[in-house]
Amino acid sequence: MVGNTFGRIFRITTSGESYGGGFRKHLKIPKELFGGLLTIVDGVPPGIKLTPDMIQRELDKRKPGQSKLDSPRKETDRVYIFSGVMEHDLTTGAPVGLVIPNVDIQDIHIKQYEEYKDIIRPGHAEYGFFKKYGQYADWTGAGRASGRETASRVAGGAVAKAILNKMGIDVIGYVIESHGIRAGFVSYEMARKNYRKNELNCPDLKKADEMIKDILAVKEEGDTAGGVIEVIVKGVPAGLGEPVFDKISARLGYAIMGIGAVKGMEIGSGFEMARMKGSESNDPAYIDKKSGRVRFRTNHAGGILGGISTGEEIRIRVAVKPTPTISVPQETVDMLKEKNVTLKPITRRDPSICPRIYPVCEAMVRCVILDLIYMAKGYEAVAGIDKKWTNL
Ligand SMILES: Cc1cc2nc3c(=O)[nH]c(=O)nc-3n(C[C@H](O)[C@H](O)[C@H](O)COP(=O)(O)O)c2cc1C
Repeated sequence: MVGNTFGRIFRITTSGESYGGGFRKHLKIPKELFGGLLTIVDGVPPGIKLTPDMIQRELDKRKPGQSKLDSPRKETDRVYIFSGVMEHDLTTGAPVGLVIPNVDIQDIHIKQYEEYKDIIRPGHAEYGFFKKYGQYADWTGAGRASGRETASRVAGGAVAKAILNKMGIDVIGYVIESHGIRAGFVSYEMARKNYRKNELNCPDLKKADEMIKDILAVKEEGDTAGGVIEVIVKGVPAGLGEPVFDKISARLGYAIMGIGAVKGMEIGSGFEMARMKGSESNDPAYIDKKSGRVRFRTNHAGGILGGISTGEEIRIRVAVKPTPTISVPQETVDMLKEKNVTLKPITRRDPSICPRIYPVCEAMVRCVILDLIYMAKGYEAVAGIDKKWTNL
């Protein structure tokens, strides 16, 4: 596996599996060292306040077992800062090491995974993993393909958040659509005001009730529902993004499309723009008298033109597929026996992964924005562009 580091200057490297530790219980080591998730964050400046609580707050948004809408697995997702932080909780400039032990590893669940370890679970990742890693592929809890892997990203993103906070940049994600039920337009202020006011984290509180009822009805059928996450980035100056391959749009796509279960990403009006005329989709520009800045009357562009931020809010939407684990019998194949079989219904599942995926989107967006700030500032320092043109 060679793709476990993200970023160019601000970099996170993650390792760990969903049930890592299940096979090390016999060793004479503390339980917390059986297995879990690790994140190494490189490119952290010195003097940044970083406490376990700051990271925990982000992890707590993603952890399972919080409501009727997600999996009953009882992982505490407790994070330990292992390195890179010294007295007064200040970073030293060294890589920050973060550890999240797996604590809910029960033999009964490992046994269940063992029962269908050679069977392709439709919608899951094991066919690809089997073709790539053969008999060595981790068959417990989907290994690196598990949603659990994303806890390490959230931990890394929390470090990025601590740095972005100092620059006044805020990233906020929420559910905007579930199983075809859409919320109305959500402003940044509304998203902040209603953040996490319901178990779905949908700021349109009325629509959220409708969505939750629908998800619970789908759950009753033994089934699962897909949805859409929206992310707003507020406070990004104009000028972020490195044409041509590291455009802000390209980096966001790379970051977001790497999250399991994500099937698409739109920027601004996205696919809707394909149905518009140019006169409808172009955002008229004007000089804002108050700030003296160029602004745009509308924001179909989602705050990005030519792969570079315009200074308007960056807005993306992320399509999330229904949770693959369902409680319905499914036609499939036993890979070892090379024969057609039926997969029995599976009971432990999230009826929607949307309420757990928005913090992962927030984390990845933070990593992208911060990394691009490093790149832009580094380039600018050498290029020495006239200050009158740039406000980076
Ligand atoms: C935060 C998060 C939680 C997830 N939880 C589950 C889950 O409980 N059950 C499940 O079947 N899939 C879950 N997934 C989705 C699978 O990881 C993913 O669909 C699978 O690995 C196949 O990859 P793909 O959908 O990207 O093709 C989760 C994904 C994320 C990001």
